[in-house]
Amino acid sequence: MKKEKISVIFVCLGNICRSPLGEGVFRHLVKEKGLAEYFIIDSAGTANYHEGELPDPGSRRIAEKHGISLAGQYARQFTVNDLTQWDYIIAMDSSNHTNIRQIGTLTGNIHLMREFDPEGPGDVPDPWARGDDAFFETYTIIRRSCEVLLDHIIKKHHLPT
Ligand code: 4NP
Repeated sequence: MKKEKISVIFVCLGNICRSPLGEGVFRHLVKEKGLAEYFIIDSAGTANYHEGELPDPGSRRIAEKHGISLAGQYARQFTVNDLTQWDYIIAMDSSNHTNIRQIGTLTGNIHLMREFDPEGPGDVPDPWARGDDAFFETYTIIRRSCEVLLDHIIKKHHLPT
């Protein structure tokens, strides 16, 4: 029997700093739990400024430091088709959230990343051009939020643990 996959996309502005980390961290956590076969995971940006680029070196460095690979990721813009292709759209900040909803009608669930942050809601700060400490802060917020997001999805979809 073919399994229906659960699809999750992380969205920021440029798709080079925050959402590639979301995609990489979430995929890492899913693999750690042996649940890769249940998921489709991606990321995109509401802007097209960096189309085709690799994740920012700051994101790659902080990911590598934690044993997480961002290999195979290239920036792309979030499109109108994405509105209906994903079960979970996870926006990194409130402006991304607004921009996504302005594109058209959604069919899945849209959330802010920090709805799942055990330390409280808010925006995931944009570390772009702000140095390694900023990337570390952003990584830390995304990491703890992704852990809670995955637990939420596991419970909701009755995935094996
Ligand atoms: P991101 O960060 O949205 O986390 O990928 C940014 C990257 C690039 C720009 C803004 C934010 N930019 O203006 O080019």
